[in-house]
Amino acid sequence: MKFNIEYFKTLLPENLQSIEIEYFDEIDSTNSYLLHRKDFLDRILVIADFQTAGRGRFNRKWYSNPGENLMFSIGLKNVDLADLPKLSFITSLSVQEAIEETLNLQLKIKWPNDLISDNKKVCGILIETQIQNIEKAKVVIGIGINVNQTNFPDEIKDKSTSLKLLLKIEINREILLSKILDLYFKYINIISSDFETIYQKYKSKCTGIGQKVSVLFGDNIYTGILSDINRSGELELLTENSKISFNSGEITIIKE
Ligand code: BTN
Repeated sequence: MKFNIEYFKTLLPENLQSIEIEYFDEIDSTNSYLLHRKDFLDRILVIADFQTAGRGRFNRKWYSNPGENLMFSIGLKNVDLADLPKLSFITSLSVQEAIEETLNLQLKIKWPNDLISDNKKVCGILIETQIQNIEKAKVVIGIGINVNQTNFPDEIKDKSTSLKLLLKIEINREILLSKILDLYFKYINIISSDFETIYQKYKSKCTGIGQKVSVLFGDNIYTGILSDINRSGELELLTENSKISFNSGEITIIKE
């Protein structure tokens, strides 16, 4: 079923009624659209029902059937460069909590910001930045959630799942998205004043802390104990003879 943008707008809380929203039945990628937009506004939301060139982290493709999932990007301007890791925490936390609150389903955050159930991915997040000056950046936060899709391409079918597959019910995408945005902008408002709450909540939802993991970073794989995720969003790995911090990468939990 087509995403109902008019119905969606009626669900938004009062304080979000004035944000700029653009909806596309089809677009190349909501992230690319915002990155290339000349008159980039602060707090703009772009939603698409289908992407012909959806992008993921590490230049991967983001596959999503038309009319079944959530694909959207939030654009922010004048973001302090120091706040970028905090935005990453806020994004996965808002989606995790919105799913928990509206659907009573507890997903785990897999560092840095995938949402998974039983090691299968439900949501991916791609945060892209354009530096405005030495302190500030324009940020595009792209979020893809597998909501009502039940068939995945061979390439990803073993590592993907959806809310519908997990809960065995058709999910109302408009309600879920309005809840995510409600939480997202609540967290943005306390990003500096109450960062500690955000950080502790984020960590409490993360999987793998204290466990043996491998980290794929570039072409190298490092194995050790995931000892912590620090306040800058870096993963700390204790290997046999050292402690290494990663600011990006992909982890696999090693079950022993
Ligand atoms: C990942 O897990 O690799 C990140 C996936 C991010 C996908 C979303 S869908 C909306 C936005 N537009 C894109 O092209 N990508 C992000």
